[in-house]
Amino acid sequence: MSHYFENDTDLKSNIRELKYTYNSSFFTFLSDNGVFSKKGIDYGSKLLLETYLKENITNVNVLDVGCGYGFIGIVIGVLADSYVDMIDINKRAVHLTKRNMKKYKGFNGSAFVSDAFSEVKKQYDVIITNPPIRVGKDKLLEILTESIEHLNKDGSLYFVIRKNQGALSIKKILEEKNKVEVLNRDKGYYIFKIKKL
Ligand SMILES: C[S@@+](CC[C@H](N)C(=O)[O-])C[C@H]1O[C@@H](n2cnc3c(N)ncnc32)[C@H](O)[C@@H]1O
Repeated sequence: MSHYFENDTDLKSNIRELKYTYNSSFFTFLSDNGVFSKKGIDYGSKLLLETYLKENITNVNVLDVGCGYGFIGIVIGVLADSYVDMIDINKRAVHLTKRNMKKYKGFNGSAFVSDAFSEVKKQYDVIITNPPIRVGKDKLLEILTESIEHLNKDGSLYFVIRKNQGALSIKKILEEKNKVEVLNRDKGYYIFKIKKL
């Protein structure tokens, strides 16, 4: 079975345009077959993004891990005046992110293919992710742990995960070595903020 995070080059393209409004700012995103949440922006991604924007963090270096078509990273780049790198293992997702980010002149950042942190050479003030769940708990924990390792001193990791996807057990594991805060909770989705202890 083909999962959205695999590179299926035979998959027929069917470009859609998705709309998103935050306060009075209006965004559009191209999505396509073979990428996550292609028919509409994911509720967990919106909750994560909007919880992050309420933190009022501006002018920082941000990494969006598993960017899909670039929804989270592009909106942060434009609205929070930050430099944003975006990575995904899925080539089609990265291609869409590149097309989407070009629409915003104020956007500063880049998008590139990377299997987790394989191609990431920098440290970041903020790492944000709606992480891949289907990769399994071990790989998920690896991505979250590597995210924490790629934070600058005093940097923070923000991520979303649902209760029925193991939110509380992931929290317990990360709490062993980090400060873990639940920033928001809605409809079974948890938004976590992690800092190194
Ligand atoms: C839950 S989706 C989130 C997508 C996007 N951020 C959004 O909010 O619409 C997770 C993303 O992680 C990507 N992914 C899966 N495994 C990965 C890996 N090993 N390295 C990087 N990205 C990966 C998937 O291709 C997918 O785009």
